[in-house]
Amino acid sequence: MKIISSIDDLRDQLSGQLRTAFVPTMGNLHEGHLSLMRLARKHGDPVVASIFVNRLQFGPNEDFDKYPRTFQADVEKLEKEGVYVLFAPTEKDLYPEPQEYRVQPPDGLGNILEGEFRPGFFNGVCTVVTKLFSCVQPRVAVFGKKDYQQLMIIRNMARQFAMPTEIIGAETFRADDGLALSSRNGYLSTEERLEAPFLYQTLNWVAEQTRGGHPDLLALERAAMARLAERGWKPDYVSIRKRMNLQAPTADEHAAGAPLVVLAAAKLGNTRLIDNLEI
Ligand code: PAF
Repeated sequence: MKIISSIDDLRDQLSGQLRTAFVPTMGNLHEGHLSLMRLARKHGDPVVASIFVNRLQFGPNEDFDKYPRTFQADVEKLEKEGVYVLFAPTEKDLYPEPQEYRVQPPDGLGNILEGEFRPGFFNGVCTVVTKLFSCVQPRVAVFGKKDYQQLMIIRNMARQFAMPTEIIGAETFRADDGLALSSRNGYLSTEERLEAPFLYQTLNWVAEQTRGGHPDLLALERAAMARLAERGWKPDYVSIRKRMNLQAPTADEHAAGAPLVVLAAAKLGNTRLIDNLEI
């Protein structure tokens, strides 16, 4: 595997490649990321991964400084997966001058759910993903469904800018007890790790109630948040939305069977976890 940090070297290395499959990451790779690499391989060749902890998508009080950086272990994992190039720019490589031009998603999608609780997050994500796409020029790129809203925003962005990159969504990779794998799970204490699958259990409970015809989705969301709070979680949201645009369904749309997804974000101790489940 070639490890490349400069944009020019990356372009030289990938010149003439028309079927590149790309998986952007922030490192600290776990089985979930590796499943994205395997899916990428099915959709293109060569597979290119990136590792870059993108300052632009972290708020001032968020975990940019303590975000886990495990570069050597990550390299070994990617080598085993047969990744051809790892693009691992430094901040100077990717942002040699202040990144003043930004990609701003529409308010209706970028400022709801995660965007409401993490202002600027999707602006930072869209900006870096656009820049990474411009460097790698992939034919396909793979993103996990665990970051459901991120996947939708990037898919819409790629379509609206007519980017020549197909966006592929990968199923969420879960531990045996249901917890969605995430680099931030590493922040959990032993006790918190035992409690953490309750978030997914709550999503399943909401999905069952919804499928069973619960008449009031807002009341159901509130009940789910109360269940989390009772066990010491601090929920930001539990929200049932339409899969097509992440807006709340009207009663008529719900009755007509609009495909739904329930999304949640909640803090357990100091660790903020997110998850979702298609209903
Ligand atoms: O999902 C992530 O790890 C990041 O948001 C991404 C897409 C690599 C952009 O920094």
